Amino acid sequence: MTTSSPAPSSSGPKPTPSTGTGPSHPSKSIAEGGTIEPVREILWGSQAGVRKYETAEELPPDLAKLIVRLMVVQADTEFASIQQHRPWLDRAPTLEDRWIESRIVADEARHGLQACRILRDFGEEGQRWIDELLAKKEGEHKLDAFNMPFDRWSDVGAFTCFVDRVGVYQLRAFQECSYGPLARAMPLMLSEEQLHLNFGFSVLKRMARNDGSYIGSKEEAQAAIRKWYPRALDMFGHSQSETSQKAIAYGLKRWTNEEARARYIQEVTPLVNSLGLELPPPDFDRRVL
Ligand SMILES: [Fe+2]
Ligand SMILES: [Fe+2]
Repeated sequence: MTTSSPAPSSSGPKPTPSTGTGPSHPSKSIAEGGTIEPVREILWGSQAGVRKYETAEELPPDLAKLIVRLMVVQADTEFASIQQHRPWLDRAPTLEDRWIESRIVADEARHGLQACRILRDFGEEGQRWIDELLAKKEGEHKLDAFNMPFDRWSDVGAFTCFVDRVGVYQLRAFQECSYGPLARAMPLMLSEEQLHLNFGFSVLKRMARNDGSYIGSKEEAQAAIRKWYPRALDMFGHSQSETSQKAIAYGLKRWTNEEARARYIQEVTPLVNSLGLELPPPDFDRRVL
């Protein structure tokens, strides 16, 4: 997890009696042979307390449409970032950087697959979207941040530090959401994303040291921050978005776009300042307000 933002207090896994074959051991830990019960009920929104939706067929049509739309955007960003990272697989400056680059690409491919598996559950419509997603080329993606090539190594650092971090906020907003298959996909994706943004921060940190021990310079790191931070803030979407309100009412997302963006700014400001670098003002070079 990246920040200290609270999760709904009742969402943590609870030890429970085992269901099924074995004897019931309500108070046992996993090590002692106990079990973890997944959260079955919707935790917020107008259906709070009702059982989560577990299949695409049982979703209300409006919610089904919203999930398809959000998964298409999610998968699109995953596949796009593979295209952005690809030229650096064998150009990253150090051995370790090269290894982490290839890991990031593999992770993003898995995230794309995961989002598409959810789309597959929506039958022909889902499959049509998958076919379209797989055919997309660089420059054809939905969000601007994913249509910009990584011209320099500092782009890789700033992108993973800022843009992947927004991705983490989006995924965290789905954590324990009302659609069971989506909620259960989150923990692994989140742990993988954590590596990406930590790596981005470490690239910027090494550059900002400016002591000749690493590629780039403090100036280059600062320029990359000015380039990617506005695109990262745009990714949260419009402040007055009705869709984001609807997603909360459906128990699908936890925060409005503006709430998530404000938390993000609060998180990244001290991080960037700790490097002796600066963020531009939140309204600098913005396209989505
Ligand atoms: Fe990802
Ligand atoms: Fe990522």
